[in-house]
Amino acid sequence: MPPTTIPLPLVKAAYLRQGMREVQGWLNPSTALYLSALEVLQRREQIDGDVCEIGVYHGKSFLTLALGLPEDQRAVAVDVFEDQHLNLDQAGRGDRAILESNLAKHRASANVDIIKASSLELDAVGFFKPGRRFRMFSIDGSHTPEVTCNDLQVAEQTVVEQGIVALDDLLNPQWLGVVTGLFSYWAGGGSLVPYGVVPGKLLLATDLEQATVNRELIRRSFGDGMVKRDVPLGVHTVDVLGEFPWIVVDEEGGSDLLPGNHTAVAAVTKRTRTVPIAYLTQLEQRAAERDALIKARQSRPHRRVVRKLKRLARPAVRSGRTRIAALRARRAKRT
Ligand SMILES: C[S@@+](CC[C@H](N)C(=O)[O-])C[C@H]1O[C@@H](n2cnc3c(N)ncnc32)[C@H](O)[C@@H]1O
Repeated sequence: MPPTTIPLPLVKAAYLRQGMREVQGWLNPSTALYLSALEVLQRREQIDGDVCEIGVYHGKSFLTLALGLPEDQRAVAVDVFEDQHLNLDQAGRGDRAILESNLAKHRASANVDIIKASSLELDAVGFFKPGRRFRMFSIDGSHTPEVTCNDLQVAEQTVVEQGIVALDDLLNPQWLGVVTGLFSYWAGGGSLVPYGVVPGKLLLATDLEQATVNRELIRRSFGDGMVKRDVPLGVHTVDVLGEFPWIVVDEEGGSDLLPGNHTAVAAVTKRTRTVPIAYLTQLEQRAAERDALIKARQSRPHRRVVRKLKRLARPAVRSGRTRIAALRARRAKRT
């Protein structure tokens, strides 16, 4: 029996079931579900505040935070967008026009504030208003150690006491700058405390006490998605939530499968079956060319060796001929 979510507002459920497939980006389906549900759970717990993401790209994960916000709450999107010279590691190139069109398509524009800036320069654009204001803060911009450390510090300074910080790509072997940045943030006295891992992201709380509260919350709300509890990370422990074919339940009682690995597997199988003939022919040609090249390379030294042996043998042959000729001449003389 697949696990079911807490009932979600229609707009969030629809995004999980269908909308998010049409937005390009990097987000595991179950993580989209965990983030969407956590945003709703926070509201139910009367936790007040805005939401923010650094590194929005086309808005795939940003929409899980921004969709269905109450009118008085804001969703803040930070990205360098066309200032790609500020994008140090090129982990995706933000595009404001595509982001805005995705926000409009999902009717999320009204609550959104877009900030075009590097997260290293947020002070200059007036990001740090007096008081803490974010209840959810997603970090998915640059993956270098320096920027990761900076972004964690930005989150630490701006999230409310019960806020949640999600750090992307912590364990992605291609972006080890993130884990390096996290540990240098801690080495520098950073106070955020991890309590959960969802596919692709680490969840952090503002302190140890809040981490315990949040851990209980994910155990209660996503128990069926729990893969392992109390896994050590640095001096802390985290619960690990996995990728599952969740049933997305909405507030009107509708339920539908979360598109996930099962469909991805089907898509891969389908793709494998429908590889275009032209592509296969090209592959065959390339394979044949490669084969011929390998054979030529193999035969070349052999040919060289034969030539060398012939060259070496030439004087011997010559001297052999000379000796035979001399022998014949001597015999002819005797007779
Ligand atoms: C991996 S993508 C984000 C993926 C996105 N969260 C999603 O849901 O698909 C990284 C984004 O961070 C932006 N970026 C890179 N460096 C940045 C920085 N220093 N400050 C703000 N945004 C940055 C890039 O332009 C890009 O859009």
